[in-house]
Amino acid sequence: MDIIEAVKTRKSIRKYEREDVDLNLIKKIIEISVNSPSGGNAQNWFTYIIKNKDILNRMRSEVETVYKKVTGKDAPGVYAFFNEAPVVLAVVQKPYIGSLDDILEKADKNRNYERKFIVNPGLQGVSSFITHILLVAHNEGLGACWMTGPLIAKPEIESMLGVKKPDNLVALIPIGKPVARQSKSSRMDVGEVIKIIE
Ligand SMILES: Cc1cc2nc3c(=O)[nH]c(=O)nc-3n(C[C@H](O)[C@H](O)[C@H](O)COP(=O)(O)O)c2cc1C
Repeated sequence: MDIIEAVKTRKSIRKYEREDVDLNLIKKIIEISVNSPSGGNAQNWFTYIIKNKDILNRMRSEVETVYKKVTGKDAPGVYAFFNEAPVVLAVVQKPYIGSLDDILEKADKNRNYERKFIVNPGLQGVSSFITHILLVAHNEGLGACWMTGPLIAKPEIESMLGVKKPDNLVALIPIGKPVARQSKSSRMDVGEVIKIIE
């Protein structure tokens, strides 16, 4: 698949065949995806590859419990289907301390706050890594979905997986062979997302 086709045809997959996915294929996808750019080439990402059904079911159950406690309602499907995939990646953001951090913290705390927490280069690096994973998985004939909804139960899932501060769980990515006929969502016209400054 060429890059244009991969970008244009990738879509979030939320239903998977029961068939297992080879762990070596998942490792290969991650090995390719680490070619992603990151601020200062910090490569400040880490991934748990979860195949254990008991853990996935417990994670889902935590999401449902926390959602119900917070909202009084049942968790919507888009938060809670991830345990139906044969593999789930739990992507962790490691701390990213760039060369500007120390300088800005001493010279201008407000600018440092804007850059570190609003611009957030550390999170942008991990986001790029996740994008690569989705595209490479798609190229391998697998379907995946970038998920932050289940992180309503972030502390509970982090403690289940053993993620400790300053590391930060930022997304779950269920991966599996896609069940056929899942629709592609629409996109804005290019004119709505650009402004040319000549
Ligand atoms: C940061 C982020 C968080 C997302 N969280 C969820 C989620 O919790 N559950 C879900 O079903 N999809 C989630 N998605 C997938 C989006 O719904 C999906 O990318 C969007 O609707 C566009 O559809 P497409 O990926 O099929 O092109 C998320 C995507 C991103 C980038």
